[in-house]
Amino acid sequence: MIYSKKLESFSQPWHNNPMELNESFKIRVGSLLPDRPLPFDLFIFLNKKMVHYLRSGDELSQDKINKLDRADVFYVPLGQRQDYKNFVYQRLNEDNLKTEVKAQILRESSITLVDEIFENPDVGSALTDSKEVIGEFVKFVDEAPEGLSHLIHLSSHDFYTYNHSLDVSIYALGLGMAVGYKGEELQELGRGSIFHDIGKRLVDVNIICKNGALDEVEWAQMQQHPTFGLQILDEYDVSEEIKACCFEHHENFLGNGYPQQLDGDEIHPMARIVALTDTYDALTTKRSYNKPMLPREAIEFMTQKLAQRYDPDLLKAMNEVMVRMDKDKASA
Ligand SMILES: [Fe+2]
Ligand SMILES: [Fe+2]
Repeated sequence: MIYSKKLESFSQPWHNNPMELNESFKIRVGSLLPDRPLPFDLFIFLNKKMVHYLRSGDELSQDKINKLDRADVFYVPLGQRQDYKNFVYQRLNEDNLKTEVKAQILRESSITLVDEIFENPDVGSALTDSKEVIGEFVKFVDEAPEGLSHLIHLSSHDFYTYNHSLDVSIYALGLGMAVGYKGEELQELGRGSIFHDIGKRLVDVNIICKNGALDEVEWAQMQQHPTFGLQILDEYDVSEEIKACCFEHHENFLGNGYPQQLDGDEIHPMARIVALTDTYDALTTKRSYNKPMLPREAIEFMTQKLAQRYDPDLLKAMNEVMVRMDKDKASA
């Protein structure tokens, strides 16, 4: 475990605590700020047990944070979940924190939600929490539209289901805003896109993690993930929009997508957005067997080679959103 190396030089003594892994939730180092009292305890999982790392009320120094990666995780007791949320929301509402720092806190704190979506047996709590988290994303990009580029440029662009779901959701919020979605509707689009691949929970993990192309049998199972996703969501009180983002995101305008081979105008408008942002993210992301495209290359490829698969108005809007995000990045 990398922690043993990274943390051996720390001066603070650790003490054992009987807390179990399943009594905690994961948070990322990148969602914390240095030199401020943290209103919750931090634990690390070392040698198969939870080790108390920082007491509630103590500060995490910049020096300690520098020794860790943004994506490294700490564990916080479940009973302190609200304290962690309060900490995050207070930072997001702090006037003198830079937009890029807030973007990092927002992005990295949402890992707790994505973790719930793919690993927690209780999908209901992920659905409930997603309202609050996506609500914060919508508020953030509403108040600071340039925050969208910060949120995306913090991505590691690894094709890891977690990153992918979050990135697709951030792109979908950007594209959705560009074509006039707002308020509750925009929030449902954000939630639908973060849950779009939830059906992959039921696909064999060896297929999900396989390096290289899938064989016919594996591909057949993979193609079931929109149906699996709908089965999962059908057990909860979920909007039609969220279900459509999940069940219809692999349909395409030519009518030869899956699982229903819907024609263009039969596909739910929000699912059309997810279809575009899903492909865009896949093209611009590192995988073991292909080199990622640059944003401009991906848009060009989608416009020239794949155009007939997508809603033409959305493809045009996506192009504009990406150009604007590139500009924001250059001027940041
Ligand atoms: Fe998918
Ligand atoms: Fe996807």
